[in-house]
Amino acid sequence: MPSQRRLKTFGLLVFIAVLITLYITASARQTRSSEFYTKTQKALEEARSHKEAALGGSGGSGGDDVGSRLREAEEAAKRSADRKGEEFHGEEGKARAKEVREKGEKDEQEKAKEEVNRNDGGRGGSSGAGAARKVRTGGNEAVLKGEKKDEKDDEKEPETEEDKNVRAELNDILKRSPVIIFSKSYCPFSKKAKHILLESYNISPPPYVVELDLHPLGAPLQAKLADMTGRRTVPNILINGRSIGGGDDVQNLDESGELIEKVKSMGGKRMRPPSQSPSSFNPPKMKYIHSQESLTVPEGVKVHIKTRIVTVEGPKGKLTKNLGHLSVSFSHPEKNIIHIELHHGSRKNVATLRTVRTIINNLIIGVTKGFKYKMRYVYAHFPINVNIEKNKETGLFEVEIRNFIGEKIVRKVIMHSGVDVEPSKNQKDELQLTGISLENVSQSAADLQQICRVRNKDIRKARHTSCVSQ
Ligand SMILES: *[C@@H]1O[C@H](CO)[C@@H](O)[C@H](O)[C@H]1NC(C)=O
Repeated sequence: MPSQRRLKTFGLLVFIAVLITLYITASARQTRSSEFYTKTQKALEEARSHKEAALGGSGGSGGDDVGSRLREAEEAAKRSADRKGEEFHGEEGKARAKEVREKGEKDEQEKAKEEVNRNDGGRGGSSGAGAARKVRTGGNEAVLKGEKKDEKDDEKEPETEEDKNVRAELNDILKRSPVIIFSKSYCPFSKKAKHILLESYNISPPPYVVELDLHPLGAPLQAKLADMTGRRTVPNILINGRSIGGGDDVQNLDESGELIEKVKSMGGKRMRPPSQSPSSFNPPKMKYIHSQESLTVPEGVKVHIKTRIVTVEGPKGKLTKNLGHLSVSFSHPEKNIIHIELHHGSRKNVATLRTVRTIINNLIIGVTKGFKYKMRYVYAHFPINVNIEKNKETGLFEVEIRNFIGEKIVRKVIMHSGVDVEPSKNQKDELQLTGISLENVSQSAADLQQICRVRNKDIRKARHTSCVSQ
């Protein structure tokens, strides 16, 4: 039983295989015998042979050509007939083969003659050269047609179509606002640029943002922009069709305070004068009201800020402080006013603003008034001996403390540079530390206090007041 079933299955498989083979061969033959294929092939061959014939020059060569082609056809017919004949066997087969061969010959000859006649056309047996010319032009036409078709198939036609679309779309975009931001939604640099242009400034009409990654024509638009502005990357900020650059450029313009000028000069009449938007204008940004601190620089003090290195110069000297680790930016809207702003993009800590303001303010106080720390030493039983000396080599003050809780050890504290130490004139057992650098003065005082805070007795009371007076 199973063997029968297996036999059936096998038979079916063989049948299917045969069908598939037949189909494939049939389709191959079809392609080769399809009208387009044969005609093109024929036209090309004829064009080639007739061209050669025409180059030969004389009308006779055209005739030769026809003759040779007839011979060729005959031979081809014989060959095909032979092939057919081989399919038959025996006497009968031979007879059939002969018949087929003869028939084939006749057929092919007739076909070739017909063809030649057709080529000679209505000219009524004009010279072969004439026919050749005609066929040649026909062939050329065919070739040309073929080429055109190829181009159409490839990309030329749809590209121009798309080109047109892209150009139209770009024109449309440029009309929406004088300031266009070409961006990508996921790009952090684009985000920064958008933030600066949309939120830090009042630009009206507001800049129009094109997210290229979300735009259906994003890629060709980007290519077009690369052509137009020489900038392929995003963000790409265009003012009246001209690129002012990318994220870094906008940030630099913002930090140097030149952005408003740039937008104003390039935006022309299409826009109202832009301005820096005070953050309190923006309801969602209410909690960043204090994202700016201002500081007034007193007369006689020069403040110079470059790449967050602050230099303050005043009557008492010059102080420099590197604020590079704090992400703030500075602007100088008026001669004696400094604005401290949080660096865009990192508004973690509004307190930073206060810190920076205080630091700069302390520098200003230092160079105008200086700092004085008063330290008093108190003792219950052993009088403390304090000796102040200035080291001639280093120019630094050294404070020696002797007889501290009756110890024989001499403790020595070296002051930081720029710190002067002297005993108070009108107060016994008091030291005065003065200097222009708050840091150095307070650090020196702290060192002094530290060296005496031994054991568990805090014998000496230090009273340090950041003395702004004087
Ligand atoms: C503060 O002290 C440091 C280290 O002693 C020194 O390098 C710096 O110049 C001092 N600053 C001033 C303003 O004297």
